Amino acid sequence: MNSDVYDPVQYKIGSVANWNAVAPSYHKNWAEKQIGPFKSTKELVRSANIRSNDTVLDLACGTGVVSKEVSHHLGKTGMLVGVDLSRVALSIAKSSISFPNSFFAEMDAENIGFCINFDKVVCQYALMFFPDVGKVLRSVKGIMEKDGKIAVAVHGTQEGVPYFSTIMNPILFHIPDIRPKGTPTSYRFGDPNDLFKEISNAGFSNIDIRKYTFQYNAGTFEEYWADYMTTTANSIRSKIEAHGKRMLAAIKKEAKIAASRFTKNDGSIEFPWDVLIATADN
Ligand SMILES: C[S@@+](CC[C@H](N)C(=O)[O-])C[C@H]1O[C@@H](n2cnc3c(N)ncnc32)[C@H](O)[C@@H]1O
Repeated sequence: MNSDVYDPVQYKIGSVANWNAVAPSYHKNWAEKQIGPFKSTKELVRSANIRSNDTVLDLACGTGVVSKEVSHHLGKTGMLVGVDLSRVALSIAKSSISFPNSFFAEMDAENIGFCINFDKVVCQYALMFFPDVGKVLRSVKGIMEKDGKIAVAVHGTQEGVPYFSTIMNPILFHIPDIRPKGTPTSYRFGDPNDLFKEISNAGFSNIDIRKYTFQYNAGTFEEYWADYMTTTANSIRSKIEAHGKRMLAAIKKEAKIAASRFTKNDGSIEFPWDVLIATADN
């Protein structure tokens, strides 16, 4: 097989391994702290308008931060189901949620199967990772109540999320084929028009998309670099390192120059972080 060709199956296998590896630090350093983009968790759940007796699906629930917030809105007759590809992430979700009527299952969003219907479906920072988003949204629509509502959070554009682009741009400049062409990117739905089209094509109506800009303090450049390389760039780190120390040093130097425009007087880097939250009716 040519490894330079994007293969959705290989991509998904890599995705499972990557999320199993990074889930604990993702939870501890980002999601659970509700910092930067994770200020969206409360906004997303608020926009889903959860009622106490709702049956809610958290699609690609990860380590369960959205599920936990949902559970605070549910009463005795409510139900919460979280699905994800990563077993490690699911185990963190299970152990962090005390709501009794909650269930977590290992499931591919592209192959969801349920014999119940959901009142609400929430999905935070995962839509861009699904190779066939249209298929996911159409099948989600098929397992929703007639008056159901979906609420989705995605990252903004490359320019709107400089945390990603400040290091990724120099990586791509030096190693343009670091990922096979066509591999889904974090900012795939950063343009509200693309997000709208995808949701609309799946048959949802009354689509509303709101943009939020949160702030994320990444600490010093060294802290930002170390965090980025072990989380966001975890799946491509060995490929970068294989190009040798000189190239790694060049990437780091260029990233440091790019980061300087976000550096405050105290030496820490503060990035703006655009997030889109879309809601739509079934
Ligand atoms: C950035 S995390 C978001 C997790 C969680 N929604 C949150 O807000 O913290 C992305 C999650 O998507 C999951 N994921 C990626 N592709 C998936 C797929 N095809 N089906 C189910 N989960 C998937 C990953 O395992 C990971 O837990």
